[in-house]
Amino acid sequence: MQEQKPPEGPTVTFSVKAGHASKPQTLEVHAAEGDLKPWDLDSKLRVVKGRQPRLDGRYKVTGRAKYTYDVNLPGMLWGRMIRASVPAGQIVKIDTSKAEALPGVKAVWTTDARTVRFAGQDVAAVAAVSPELAEDAARLVQVTYDEAPYVTDLEKAMEEGAPLVYEPDKMPGPKDVPRKGNVVGPTSPRRGGNRGDVEKGFAGAAATVEATYLVPTHTHSPLETHGVIAKWDGDHLTVWASTQGVFTVRDGMAEALGIDRKNVNVITEHMGGGFGSKLAPSASGSAFAVVACKLAKQAGAPVKLMLNRHEEHLCTGNAPSARMTVRLGATRDGTLTAVHYRSFGSAGIAGGAGTGGPAGALYANNPNLKIEEHDVFTNAGPAAPLRAPGHSQGAFALESAMDELADKLGMDPLELRRKNESSPVRLVEYDLGAKAIGWERRSKKPGEGAGPRKRGIGMASGNWYVIARGSGVGAEVRVHRDGSVEYFSGAQDIGTGFRTAMAMVVAEELGVKTTDIKPNVGDSRWPEGPGSGGSNTTNSVAPAVRLAAHDARMKLFAGAAPLLGAKPEELDAADGKIFVAASPGKSVTFKQAAAKMPGEVIASVAERKKQYETYRQDLAGAQFVEVEVDTQTGQVRVLKVVSANDCGIPINTLTTESQIIGAMIQGVSWALFEDRVLDRNVGTMVNPNLESYKVLSSKDMFEAVPIVTEVANAGNNTSAAGIGEPPIVPSLAAVANAVFNATGARVRTLPMTPDRVLAALAEARRG
Ligand code: MOS
Repeated sequence: MQEQKPPEGPTVTFSVKAGHASKPQTLEVHAAEGDLKPWDLDSKLRVVKGRQPRLDGRYKVTGRAKYTYDVNLPGMLWGRMIRASVPAGQIVKIDTSKAEALPGVKAVWTTDARTVRFAGQDVAAVAAVSPELAEDAARLVQVTYDEAPYVTDLEKAMEEGAPLVYEPDKMPGPKDVPRKGNVVGPTSPRRGGNRGDVEKGFAGAAATVEATYLVPTHTHSPLETHGVIAKWDGDHLTVWASTQGVFTVRDGMAEALGIDRKNVNVITEHMGGGFGSKLAPSASGSAFAVVACKLAKQAGAPVKLMLNRHEEHLCTGNAPSARMTVRLGATRDGTLTAVHYRSFGSAGIAGGAGTGGPAGALYANNPNLKIEEHDVFTNAGPAAPLRAPGHSQGAFALESAMDELADKLGMDPLELRRKNESSPVRLVEYDLGAKAIGWERRSKKPGEGAGPRKRGIGMASGNWYVIARGSGVGAEVRVHRDGSVEYFSGAQDIGTGFRTAMAMVVAEELGVKTTDIKPNVGDSRWPEGPGSGGSNTTNSVAPAVRLAAHDARMKLFAGAAPLLGAKPEELDAADGKIFVAASPGKSVTFKQAAAKMPGEVIASVAERKKQYETYRQDLAGAQFVEVEVDTQTGQVRVLKVVSANDCGIPINTLTTESQIIGAMIQGVSWALFEDRVLDRNVGTMVNPNLESYKVLSSKDMFEAVPIVTEVANAGNNTSAAGIGEPPIVPSLAAVANAVFNATGARVRTLPMTPDRVLAALAEARRG
C-alpha cells in the first residue's frame, strides 16, 4: 500500500480485503464518519461487476437520443464564427457593415482582442435566421490584418532568433521556470520527478541506449463537434452544451457574463465525445459558448452555435507534439540503473506540453531518475488535455527505449519489464496479456519471418492515477410509493456509460433491476458532480450515489421490517424483494415495501465523503500488439491488440471493456495515421477535415481483446477508479515495438506511415 493520509475530521475504520485476487492484502482503511465499508474482494455483489448494456443504447441506435446538435428551439437563430485567417499579427479593422445589412442577420459580435497568435482565433460572429444566411453573413465580414512573422514548427521555434509567439512578459506559465525565446523549461512532472544521480547511474551501467522520438500533434476529433444552444428567459440563461463539464460551463458562463451561477442552467443529455477537449467552459482556443450567449441576448432569441469540423481541428484543442530523448542505463541482467528523460513539446500558444508522466511513474525501483520537460510556443491552436495528457507521447518514448534496451541486452522485452516492475498489479497484467496475445509466437530474432509480409508482436506498459473529486459531489435517489426508482446526478455522461454505471450502483443497494431505474444525469440543476477529466467521473460520483441509495434502502427496510417481524438491520434486498437475510423465504416485494412509505416519495440526498487510503494510488496497464508489415510497401496493419487494465472494481464490466477498446482504437490511430499538418509557408492547417486528417476506421480495425484486471482499490466506498484514459497510454509504443519485432526496423517518428516504415527498413538493412 502507498502512503496516503486519512481524511480530516472524525473517521471510521474498516478492515478490507484489497488488491488483486491472486495476492489479496488485508488493509485497515480510515474513512470519513458516516461512510460505508468499501466493496472489496469479499463483497458478494449481485449487480455491480456485471455486464449491463447501456440504458440509453436503444435511444442512440434509433436516433431518439438528443445530442446538443439535435436541440432545436422555436425562433432559434444560427450562429457562425469568423476566425483569423493569418497565424500572427494585429487586427487593424473588423468591418461587419455588409453582414449587418444582410436581411435575416439578427446579431453580430466582434472581439476586443487585437493580437492574433494562431490561424483560427476568434475574430467575430454572426447570428441569422438560417445556417445558410449565417454562412453568407460570415463571408461578408471583412477583417484587415497587419501580419507579423510567425513560427509553426517545433524545431524552428526553438532556434535562436525565431519569431516570438509571446512577448517575454506575456508568456503564459509559471514565472519561476527558466524561459528563453519560445522555450519554457526545464520542469518536472507533478508526480514522480527526480531522484538519485543519473550520471552515477550511467557510469555503473553495463549497457546504455539513447534515442530521440517524435510524436506529431494529434487532434481530439470527437464525432460531435463543440457547440451550444443559448437561450435567455429574462436574466435566466439556459445552455445546452456538448461538454465534459456542465458545472464548468455553468461557472464559466456566469463569470464571463457577470451573472449569478444560480441563474445559469446547463444541460448535456447525450454527448458525442470530448476526450479532454470539452473540459473548458467553451474550448481551449475559442470563447464560442460565451459568444453564443451574447448573440442570443442581443437578438432576443435562442442561438445555436455548433462549430464545424474545420474549426474543431483549429481551435478546440489538440494533444501537444513532442520531441523526446530518452537515455537508459542497466546492468547486464537488465536492472535499470538510470533513466534520463528529456522532452520538448508544443501545445501551440498554450503551455502544458509535458510528457514526463510515465517516466516519473514507471519503474519506481530505478534509483536514478532525471526528467526535464520543456514547453515550446508555436503559432498554432492551443492544446487541451487529451485522454491521459502527455502520457501516450511519454510512454511512446520511454517504452520504445525499453524495447531498444532489451534488444541491446539480448533480453526478452517482457522479461526486462518484469525485472524492473514495481507494481504487483502490472505483474499480473504481464502474465494475462502475454497469454492472450500468445507472446511465445513473436519473432525470436526481429525480422526473421519469411516473405515480404512480416508479422511481429510487441508490448508496452502504461500508467495512470487514481483521481477523484472528494468533496462537493452529491447524488439523489428517489423511490416513489408505486415502487419506481430514479436517481439524479448533475454530472454528464460523455459517452462512457456513466448513467448506466450509476444505475447499477442504485440497483445493487436497492435490490431492483438496473433497467427499472430511471437515470437523470447531465443537468446543473441536479446534485453537483465533477467535470469528466482525469478518468474521475465514476469514482467521484458512484460513492455519493451509493450513499444516497443506501439511505433509501434503510428507509424502505424500516417500512418492511414490521411486515416481516424482523429488525431493519436484519434485512437484505435482491431480485425485487426485501427479505430476512437469515431466512430468505420471509420476504415482501420491493413494491409492497414502497407502499409503506409515510409520504409519496423517499428522497435521499447524499454527499460524497473524502477519498481515503487506497491499496494503490496508481493504475497499471500493459498492452500487447500483433502487426503485419508489408516490407515492400511499408504498410503496417494492426492485427490484434490485448490490453490489460486496472480500474479498481469495475462497476459495469461491459462498458469498462468498451472504454478499453475505444482507447486502443484511438491509440493505434495515433500511431499509424493521425498528424495535424500546418503549412509552414502560410501558417494554416493543411488537413482540417476527416478526409485528409486520417483517423482509424472500420477497415483498419483489429481484433480487440480487453482484459479488466479487477483490483479492490478501497479508495472510496465502491472501490472504483477510472478507466477512460489509462488504456491509451501504452498503445503508441506497443505498435512500434511490434513493428520492430516484425521487421527489425525501429520507427521513432509517428505516425508510422509507409514512407517512414520504408526508411526505417532501409536503415535497418544498412545496420
Ligand atoms: Mo481527460 S484528457 O482529463 O478528459
